[in-house]
Amino acid sequence: MARYRIATIEGDGIGPEVTRAATAVLTEACGADTLAFDGLEGGAGHYRRSGEVLPDETFAGCRDADAILHGAAGLPGVVYPDGTEVGNDLHLRLRFRLDLYANVRPIKLLPGVLSPLRAFEGGGIDYVIVRENTEGLYASRGAGVLLRDEIASDSLVVTRKGTERVARFAFDLAARRSGAPRDGQRRVTVCDKANILRSYAFFRRICDEVHAGYPGIAIDYAYADAITVHMLKRPDFYDVIVAENMFGDIISDLGAATVGGMGISPSGEIGDTHALFQGAHGSAPDIAGQNAASPIATILSGAMMLRWLGDRKHDADLARAADRVEAAVATTLRDGRAVPRDLGGAATCTEVTDAVRRALA
Ligand code: IPM
Ligand code: MN
Repeated sequence: MARYRIATIEGDGIGPEVTRAATAVLTEACGADTLAFDGLEGGAGHYRRSGEVLPDETFAGCRDADAILHGAAGLPGVVYPDGTEVGNDLHLRLRFRLDLYANVRPIKLLPGVLSPLRAFEGGGIDYVIVRENTEGLYASRGAGVLLRDEIASDSLVVTRKGTERVARFAFDLAARRSGAPRDGQRRVTVCDKANILRSYAFFRRICDEVHAGYPGIAIDYAYADAITVHMLKRPDFYDVIVAENMFGDIISDLGAATVGGMGISPSGEIGDTHALFQGAHGSAPDIAGQNAASPIATILSGAMMLRWLGDRKHDADLARAADRVEAAVATTLRDGRAVPRDLGGAATCTEVTDAVRRALA
């Protein structure tokens, strides 16, 4: 009987391929009796067949599991009458119903991966974006105003509780890291538009209040427009960035692009009792079923899952397995043993997965 049950939603497009790659690597790293992957239905394809994007039994399976691993969701043309995409609703519903308030997006340039930022080809980009994941502009999803085909509006919601807990998460994360590559300073950068909107000035004020409890960590501020320039000109200055939901969604893709793209970027959507792990990419239906997708983002998300689960369950074996998975990915990319297409190579999903599994050994 496996020690931990992982709710596993392969989803749409490349989701099944990258999920199976990750479960193979995680099983190799942890041993066969550690993780049981409980396959659950959900996503746009399932909605097209059944009318449900997140079936009750899938939600129950996620609620009762030790962690959730997700491939990707979304298919072009599968939309609700209001025009919003069905597939996205799968994990938006999980985010809100399981209260996964911290969307953790590591932005790290791995050895052997070329950054489009020439000044950082040799490395030096290593920060984490902590995106508030349960309110902000997303609080209005499904609740916006659409009147007489004439006016539409969505409200931005910032709460004290929502901001306090995501800011505390960011400062706690910075306390566990070793600081920004540029100067070794433990730092949390608050990304907002406090100069313009009261909601963001409120967000910043709450972050300042939380910072008062972390004297050893510097606080820094960057407006959402300005930070896009800094992320390209001085990414090594950043350690942890905390942002409202929509800003976090936008800057995390920009950050991913500076370290190899969405195919290499993992994510962990973490609450106090549950967490969902998935690559930051989408379902890429154009390359689905061709064994062409890079499994790296989902494999690294699996490593994040092991680390989170190991921390919660005080299971050092899981943390060690996470280290081994991350080291195996780094070795595979550094030595060019199997370079996925999105990083300029020609390796298939299977070839990358097998190379990582060999590097584990
Ligand atoms: C992300 C994605 C999602 C978001 C979509 C797929 C719902 O872009 O996780 O960054 O908008 O948050
Ligand atoms: Mn996004």
